[in-house]
Amino acid sequence: MKSTQYSEKTLDHFRNPRNVGTLEGDDVAIGRVGNPVCGDLMEMYIQVVDDRIADIRFQTFGCGSAVATSSMTTELVKGMTLDEALGVTRGNVADALDGLPPVKMHCSNLAADALHDAIKNWRSGKKLNPLTAEEVAGV
Ligand code: FES
Repeated sequence: MKSTQYSEKTLDHFRNPRNVGTLEGDDVAIGRVGNPVCGDLMEMYIQVVDDRIADIRFQTFGCGSAVATSSMTTELVKGMTLDEALGVTRGNVADALDGLPPVKMHCSNLAADALHDAIKNWRSGKKLNPLTAEEVAGV
């Protein structure tokens, strides 16, 4: 793949992202990461039922590749056990999108890392609050 070429699947998930938004409730955990390369930000919300991801949403203040990889990540892991979801890597997500331009691979870290952070927070009982608009503006 050329360094600037996007697959049709990536473009589709960028244009029509799945599972955008937030979730609330006692069975919801939030994961959050920032991208040290570009400063962009990602949040993943998981609803956990019987140790499985019953529902998932994301919000990103990132680029098109971050949107596409997040969208694909949510589709891949919905219904998985937490352990299965922990095994999903950015490489799996990029493969599912039929590849990402090499210069954009760092963007795909955000989705997998935020997902893993949400699972870690669920297991430790750590509750994050959704970011406020002011916090987002300050990132
Ligand atoms: Fe920041 Fe892609 S350039 S997430």
